[in-house]
Amino acid sequence: MSEGNGSAPGGRATIRISGLTKSFGDQTVVDIDELVLGAKPVEGLIGPNGAGKTTLMRLIMRSTRADTGTVVLDDGSSEVALSKLAPHRIASLGVVKTNQVTQDFAGLTIWDSLLLAVAQRHDERPHRIYRERHVVEAYGEEIQGYLDTFEFSEPGGFAHSAGEKKLLDLIRCLLLEPKILLLDEPTAGLSEEVTTQVIEMLRTKVAEGMSVIIVEHDLDVIWGFSDVVHFMAEGDVILEGDPDYIRAHSTVVEKYLGSGHV
Ligand SMILES: Nc1ncnc2c1ncn2[C@@H]1O[C@H](COP(=O)(O)OP(=O)(O)OP(=O)(O)O)[C@@H](O)[C@H]1O
Ligand SMILES: [Mg+2]
Repeated sequence: MSEGNGSAPGGRATIRISGLTKSFGDQTVVDIDELVLGAKPVEGLIGPNGAGKTTLMRLIMRSTRADTGTVVLDDGSSEVALSKLAPHRIASLGVVKTNQVTQDFAGLTIWDSLLLAVAQRHDERPHRIYRERHVVEAYGEEIQGYLDTFEFSEPGGFAHSAGEKKLLDLIRCLLLEPKILLLDEPTAGLSEEVTTQVIEMLRTKVAEGMSVIIVEHDLDVIWGFSDVVHFMAEGDVILEGDPDYIRAHSTVVEKYLGSGHV
């Protein structure tokens, strides 16, 4: 049987990248010949500041346009060229991304912004979500579960701290029930305790079939959580393997990230 996600026996949905390039002005920021992401349940994407990690994720999500290349989602039974889709269609195929810099939720309370996320998942019209009690009852428990886990100070109010905004963004993404979740520095700025909670929550979701691609500068998180690590530098993936393999290439890691990481 499959591992879930409707993927082929033994396989997960993967993102296949070919000939992907992106420049800003005369600076080439992403230049990847071939790369497959998502073959393993948890894949880390690491590299120095400016390596192109966020840009690569934005290219996958089509929140920025590639200059050349293709990005294909392969779920084992069908292939879809994400690089030809409108950005909003990508989330509906199960590919969802959190933001390195969290967005404000346009004046919505924590509760309302999460209701809006489930509305998106179920293709509900947003006004129904707010007006009709049964809709709130149907999704409220799921939302409340997340709010209880992360102990928001004022769930009926607004997200105040950067940490709460970060968690809200993560929960919003999880409510979309992604097949592949792209995480851009999900634990940056969170306490050690909350970081542990976030990783535990993600492990539960991964056990249920979700795949994770995670960018993180906290390499202890990467080494402990990832099945495979892609090391990116100057726009390309220069090293791939399990955490032990990457750590064994300490000269490469230290050249780009400095000492003390392996
Ligand atoms: N919209 C933009 N316009 C111009 N340059 C950009 C833009 N977005 C990114 N860049 C540049 O592209 C390069 C790669 O940036 P990117 O944000 O992808 O790196 P990153 O690997 O995510 O780095 P970090 O670890 O610091 O988050 C950087 O030099 C950055 O300044
Ligand atoms: Mg980044």
